[in-house]
Amino acid sequence: MNNIELSVELGKNSYPVFIGKNLLSNIGEKIKSFTDLNYAIIITDKNVEEIHLPIVKKSLEDNGINPRLHIIDGGENSKSLETYSKLIEDILEQGIERKTTLIALGGGVVGDLGGFVASSLLRGIKFIQIPTTLLSQVDSSIGGKTGINSDYGKNLIGAFYQPSMVISDIDVLKTLPSRELSAGLAEVIKYGLIKDRKFFDYLNTVIDDIQDDDFIEIIKTSCKIKADLVSKDEKEKGVRALLNLGHTFGHAIEKYCNYDGTILHGEAISIGMVLAYRVGVIKKTANDQDLEQVIQIFKLAKLPTKLSDLGINFDKNKLLEYMYKDKKVENGKLKLVLPNNIGDAYTTSDFNVNDIQFIWENA
Ligand SMILES: NC(=O)c1ccc[n+]([C@@H]2O[C@H](COP(=O)([O-])OP(=O)(O)OC[C@H]3O[C@@H](n4cnc5c(N)ncnc54)[C@H](O)[C@@H]3O)[C@@H](O)[C@H]2O)c1
Repeated sequence: MNNIELSVELGKNSYPVFIGKNLLSNIGEKIKSFTDLNYAIIITDKNVEEIHLPIVKKSLEDNGINPRLHIIDGGENSKSLETYSKLIEDILEQGIERKTTLIALGGGVVGDLGGFVASSLLRGIKFIQIPTTLLSQVDSSIGGKTGINSDYGKNLIGAFYQPSMVISDIDVLKTLPSRELSAGLAEVIKYGLIKDRKFFDYLNTVIDDIQDDDFIEIIKTSCKIKADLVSKDEKEKGVRALLNLGHTFGHAIEKYCNYDGTILHGEAISIGMVLAYRVGVIKKTANDQDLEQVIQIFKLAKLPTKLSDLGINFDKNKLLEYMYKDKKVENGKLKLVLPNNIGDAYTTSDFNVNDIQFIWENA
């Protein structure tokens, strides 16, 4: 399959998404045609610095662009006020101007943090996402949600700020730990569940042994679905919320583990989506066969489907409590995304808290 270019349509804030192979080695040319400055800021983390930064750096230098490097620690802890503030001050110390471009080279942590830094420097400088995890290629690099964590919760400080370009090179996925790859697949499967039955069926045929062409197809379809929802509802006032299928359950699991990295986001929402289907079965918007197919595909993707898979002894009442403290609570009413069989979903507050309690007890 050839390399692909999509567009996220947001009027004057529209931007292209490039998906394919060998993109990093030619990145300098793309970025040169985008900026007339002879330097660009790169934020990346220590793991990506070692493996993928050299090729990006060389390509930029070959095209007369001097990369100004800012390397952060890998992992969720870097999405902090402390790292944010250090980056801002270091970048300002070097001197920047309105036309400066910031490149976020890394997974969702680097993308969320880098995007927020770009949004606030001089009230907004241009930024380019070069996502290096599957999760960031199919999800976090698209849609403009940027931000960092607070002591009071995840992603509570941030801004909607769209990138100017997204460049997803599938070659970087070869160095990704398999657990991280599976975590990205959880979001991929989600797109099939909320929007595209055919995509779900296709995933079933490839998910246990994904080849390069499949990766391009998977990233393309995922980005298209996300881009479409974002174009219709940039600030998540309506349909964009469908992207949260399984997330309210998943966030409760992540909060229980203090976001300490023992459980990856994709693992938590994988269980969360199974639980959303269990609610669907109770409400008769999904049937037992749908539920079984959902469990099977997560298993094929080497993802957990029940709490006991995580090897943690959860207090189920606490999970219920955390769920009701999620951002998706409005005027004390919890909203959930629930399935309409496979390939469609809807948002509702119309469910019984006793059913949710029952579901946690049997999760
Ligand atoms: N903005 C959004 O819309 C959105 C959506 C979903 C998730 N997120 C955020 O994304 C973050 C998670 O992103 P993630 O899963 O990409 O995690 P991550 O950025 O922490 O990356 C996972 C690990 O893989 C390493 N890594 C990255 N690329 C690699 C590669 N090619 N080879 C080897 N190792 C590599 C990283 O150093 C890190 O240790 C969370 O903070 C979450 O809140 C944001």
